[in-house]
Amino acid sequence: MHHLRCLFLCLAIQFAAVAAEFFKPFNVTYDHRALIIDGNRRMLISAGIHYPRATPEMWPDLIAKSKEGGADVIQTYVFWSGHEPQRGQYYFEGRYDIVKFVKLVGASGLYLHLRIGPYVCAEWNFGGFPVWLRDIPGIVFRTDNAPFKEEMQRFVKKIVDLMREEKLFSWQGGPIIMLQIENEYGNMESSYGQRGKEYVKWAANMALGLGAGVPWVMCKQVDAPGSIIDACNGYYCDGYKPNANNKPVLWTEDWDGWYASWGGRLPHRPVEDLAFAVARFFQRGGSFQNYYMYFGGTNFGRTSGGPFYITSYDYDAPIDEYGLLSEPKWGHLKDLHAAIKLCEPALVAADSPHYIKLGPKQEAHVYSTEVHTKGLNFTWIGKSQSGCSAFLANIDEHKAASVTFLGQKYSLPPWSVSILPDCRNVVFNTAKVGAQTSIKIVKFDLPPSSAVSAQKQFISKKKNSDAMKSWMTLEEPIGVWSENNFTVRGILEHLNVTKDHSDYLWHRTRIFVSDDDISFWEESKISPAITIDSMRDVLRVFVNGQLTGSVIGHWVKVVQPVRFLKGYNDFLLLTQTVGLQNYGAFLEKDGAGFRGQVKLTGFKNGDIDLSTLSWTYQVGLKGEFFKIYTIEENEKSGWAELSLDADPSTFTWYKTYFDSPAGTDPVALNLGSMGKGQAWVNGHHIGRYWTRVAPKDGCQEICDYRGAYNSDKCSTNCGKPTQTWYHIPRSWLQASKVVRSRFLDGKVAVNDLTPEIHLQCQDGFIMSSIEFASYGTPQGSCQKFSEGNCHASNSLSIVSEACLGKNSCSIGVSNLVFGGDPCRGIVKTLAVEARCRSPPAVGFSQL
Ligand SMILES: *[C@@H]1O[C@H](CO)[C@@H](O)[C@H](O)[C@H]1NC(C)=O
Ligand SMILES: *[C@@H]1O[C@H](CO)[C@@H](O)[C@H](O)[C@H]1NC(C)=O
Ligand SMILES: *[C@@H]1O[C@H](CO)[C@@H](O)[C@H](O)[C@H]1NC(C)=O
Ligand SMILES: *[C@@H]1O[C@H](CO)[C@@H](O)[C@H](O)[C@H]1NC(C)=O
Repeated sequence: MHHLRCLFLCLAIQFAAVAAEFFKPFNVTYDHRALIIDGNRRMLISAGIHYPRATPEMWPDLIAKSKEGGADVIQTYVFWSGHEPQRGQYYFEGRYDIVKFVKLVGASGLYLHLRIGPYVCAEWNFGGFPVWLRDIPGIVFRTDNAPFKEEMQRFVKKIVDLMREEKLFSWQGGPIIMLQIENEYGNMESSYGQRGKEYVKWAANMALGLGAGVPWVMCKQVDAPGSIIDACNGYYCDGYKPNANNKPVLWTEDWDGWYASWGGRLPHRPVEDLAFAVARFFQRGGSFQNYYMYFGGTNFGRTSGGPFYITSYDYDAPIDEYGLLSEPKWGHLKDLHAAIKLCEPALVAADSPHYIKLGPKQEAHVYSTEVHTKGLNFTWIGKSQSGCSAFLANIDEHKAASVTFLGQKYSLPPWSVSILPDCRNVVFNTAKVGAQTSIKIVKFDLPPSSAVSAQKQFISKKKNSDAMKSWMTLEEPIGVWSENNFTVRGILEHLNVTKDHSDYLWHRTRIFVSDDDISFWEESKISPAITIDSMRDVLRVFVNGQLTGSVIGHWVKVVQPVRFLKGYNDFLLLTQTVGLQNYGAFLEKDGAGFRGQVKLTGFKNGDIDLSTLSWTYQVGLKGEFFKIYTIEENEKSGWAELSLDADPSTFTWYKTYFDSPAGTDPVALNLGSMGKGQAWVNGHHIGRYWTRVAPKDGCQEICDYRGAYNSDKCSTNCGKPTQTWYHIPRSWLQASKVVRSRFLDGKVAVNDLTPEIHLQCQDGFIMSSIEFASYGTPQGSCQKFSEGNCHASNSLSIVSEACLGKNSCSIGVSNLVFGGDPCRGIVKTLAVEARCRSPPAVGFSQL
């Protein structure tokens, strides 16, 4: 257990069953300079958070931390594959409760940019497309193709209609200020010829026809038609020019880090360079900047894209995978945002910046309405209604520079921007990091209320007796295990058979080997091999029940030697996917498993074309099918104690029980001693795991922030497994029966639908004071809570009565508990911060 500890217990739980109007209704339009919100141009900082990459219990804290960090907007994609797992059957619950997510954003006073796509890329399985989409007859994705357009329009309309029904658009008093149709299609358009161009026009018209009433963007789409704004994605977007002079400069994805692959290094983008990129963007006329990602989170279950993207989607973002602030990144950006906000009046007042060359690689951009008419001197500063703000940049990658600006000297570190909200005083320089570096205290607790099941393929040879003592095991059958098997002649395409209901597909046949073959091999020293033109992602070859080879790769050629016995041999191939392709043209044709010829070579009478044989197919694993990882099913499944002398076996399920660590800090599980597989906690799929090791070299000892960033710069983790820690969201650690018994024990009468807040100190500690309690619209986050406009005055006394002097307590989050509704029609939150102290010692002291 990896236990990240905070001194305080801080919780905020929302009571969300309330019809919402978050803002006074307002319209959103735009001009060449900025988005115009309720009649005013705005400079906007946006924080990318993908709702299914966290749990609903985590959302309020992530949104609060974004707001505290200076964000005005939350941005998310919409994940079609999660919302329509089967065609026509929609799902909007749990991590896919997008309505709840949008309402939480609105309740916190932030705006929302909803990127519907519905192709989203996002390092998400199949780019967010449901896998059933590829089975629609005649379909070609993302082009002028009738079956595709029909499905796309149906889903986009479904989402827009849902948002309108829930009154979530700005003109309805909701937080949504902007939408997105398609996603980085400009990179693919040429692959589709004229039909691609037609598709862009169709997508734009279709989106505009839905009557959402807020602006739409297309990112990386230089030919975005009409009123659709073409937006920039990249590491740097300063100087971006939209395709019409009435469109503002928007940066939909500022890549503040990068994703990682199994066996890859971990990317890091230095915050000095990131702040430089953001400051340069606003310096040169930009007006909306979104961090992709502000919180990356986790690819739970089998949602990670690929091939080969890891379960963590930390992204080196300002809020880490666990929801903790990543310092100094979060803090330095917060300071940057505060500096930009000081400039906002001048930035929005000027139609464009006034440019001053300060040196060969140094320049100033000055924003003031006075500059153009009256010349640039100080007499007007202070007189100007909107003020004057300036950005001084040194784009020299190596050297600091000294510059003179409006008669005053400034020194500029290399690759940096200084921000002067009054054109005189520097309040921020991107290269000078003032934010503290936080140290997370890591505690190792070992593990009874929660079950871990891990399906694991290759157990490490090293036997760790302590860790394995309490493990139970269950063998997974090798090969066909159910009535659902079927036999046909030929090799089938992997996804056509699995429909991605599982990563795994078994293929079984029999190979006859004659005496002649055996003597041929002995005499010629030739060894037979299975030879495949092309294969992805993982292939395991079994002969007569024994694993004889494994191949890993993305469309790689396979030549795998095999050993056969005389007579009939049982020949098994297992193909596995590790995240479906999420980027590229013609995804519907990509498929998985094998391509081209599949044959056995090295036989006396020539090669055997395996596609002419009869094959028996079996989709998935028995344990997956019977859901042996769930609380209900796992006890029925015949687990055995793991014996320490047992030979490590391929294809085994493991389970153990552990205590939930006390407190509310994030929890992570170290799976560094396992091989490759998938893991569940209390039936929740925490993701794929794998101990693939990153290359030994390519990591820099010193990370130099100066100069243009790319994802290979400043990477870490060389020679180590790419991922060993796996996030277990706190809310998944509570077995449902435990929660239910708490409801029954509660002092207050609350019905089962009421959320409750549960506080617990470490063992031996009691709550000595309640530092903060507010039921209403409290603001801020841990240790920085404050009362909002709505506050039940008895909050502190109710919480104190329930909790003081106790090791743990629960309080229902409802109007009933707090003696009435403190503000009708508003989503209410209960935030509590308590201090834990060890109780007075009882005993005798020896003198
Ligand atoms: C928004 O614009 C529409 C159409 O121009 C107008 O009817 C409506 O009154 C505006 N709403 C607000 C809140 O300004
Ligand atoms: C400075 O600005 C003032 C007021 O706008 C103007 O009268 C004056 O001529 C300017 N001086 C120079 C040197 O441009
Ligand atoms: C495979 O399917 C066949 C035909 O449905 C069936 O007779 C056989 O029992 C199945 N195999 C297993 C292991 O269930
Ligand atoms: C997948 O199945 C479809 C229809 O069953 C077929 O048209 C297509 O060719 C198959 N794809 C491959 C790669 O075999």
